[in-house]
Amino acid sequence: MDTRTEMLSRLRNRKPGYSLDQAFYTDPTYHQVDLEQIWYKDWLFVGHDCEIPSQGNYFTVQVGAYAVVVVRGKDGDINALHNSCRHRGSRVCLEQRGSAAKLVCPYHQWTYDLDGALLFARQMGEGFDTSKFGMKQIACESAGGYIFICLADQPTDFAPFRAMMEPYFLPHRLRDAKIAYESTIIEKGNWKLVWENNRECYHCAGNHPELCKTFPEAPTVTGVDGAKNDPEIAAHWEKCEAIGLPSAFVMDERGQFRATRVPLLREAISYTISGRKAVQMRLSDNVNMDRIGSLLLYHYPTTWNHVLSDHAITFRVMPISATETAVTTKWLVHRDAVEGIDYRLDELTHVWTETNDQDRQIVEENARGIHSPAYEPGPYSEIHEGGVAQFVEWYSSFMQSRLTEGGRPALRSVA
Ligand code: FES
Ligand SMILES: [Fe+2]
Repeated sequence: MDTRTEMLSRLRNRKPGYSLDQAFYTDPTYHQVDLEQIWYKDWLFVGHDCEIPSQGNYFTVQVGAYAVVVVRGKDGDINALHNSCRHRGSRVCLEQRGSAAKLVCPYHQWTYDLDGALLFARQMGEGFDTSKFGMKQIACESAGGYIFICLADQPTDFAPFRAMMEPYFLPHRLRDAKIAYESTIIEKGNWKLVWENNRECYHCAGNHPELCKTFPEAPTVTGVDGAKNDPEIAAHWEKCEAIGLPSAFVMDERGQFRATRVPLLREAISYTISGRKAVQMRLSDNVNMDRIGSLLLYHYPTTWNHVLSDHAITFRVMPISATETAVTTKWLVHRDAVEGIDYRLDELTHVWTETNDQDRQIVEENARGIHSPAYEPGPYSEIHEGGVAQFVEWYSSFMQSRLTEGGRPALRSVA
């Protein structure tokens, strides 16, 4: 049985409400199918508009085997390009971020415009047609300050996500923010374990003393059900919507993305130990209230987010291998906020730096235990792990539909 057929069989026969079979978390051939069917086909959050504010600003990102560069073009548009030279394939942009008037390959100096067009290739002989050797384009969209790319030749429709998220995010003006701090940690666990851990707060009380001072562990906050029946959350939505901040829980019909605004504990403003604001200047000039809680946004498979009144924290998940995942966290503040005056970096970043490290340890222990031959899928808590069950259900149904697209492999070929 080939890997795709085996995966399909296991997904079809899985026990609903249980974690996945070991191979989904450990097997490199399964991981390759994850890459091909999800990561190379879906819209992926890669970074923020505000990271590349000026013409020629760029950042690079690796998605599985694909090297990508995202660059601000001459017209102000954002271009995503395959970061692979059309001469002999060298990476063109080597730095994690940088700025360039033109993109020059370091190998033989082929020179590209910011939209990828090849401008100059020295001594290639007469008749060499530069117009045929531009850097290849990647589908790219910007929504509410978030840049998404899609590696597929025929990307799925981005419009439903934009329609859902922009009303929630535009008031927070993340396009005009700046990155106060960024960290990337490597978690030695499969990307789905990183997500499963993120999608519940069953583990919070025992593991996140700092975060638990302000973030509610209530399942109505972390899960996908019941928020509107929670009077505290409903009152919070009403209060925020009255000042023009959409807040009610919304989710796309396939469960890939959703947004909602939740109150923090004890009327906290920010993720600090005291609950007081970490940044004296509000994130957005359009929001004139401090106690707006946290706007949560999830988009599988790459990002979860918290937008507060004083700053935003965004997370990007990137798989490295079947058993390693990079998690990049960015702290966004008003672009005029000054470190040392409006905020102290250690106070701004303390809670989530600790929380990320605690989550890393949890995920790594989870991964170690799953590697044991004695591991078998276990039941999610119906009370606390509805969000995890929803994630795994999304993965399972998405993979099944992708694996059967084009008629291959068919169920009858499954032993
Ligand atoms: S590989 Fe880029 S110029 Fe030769
Ligand atoms: Fe956690």
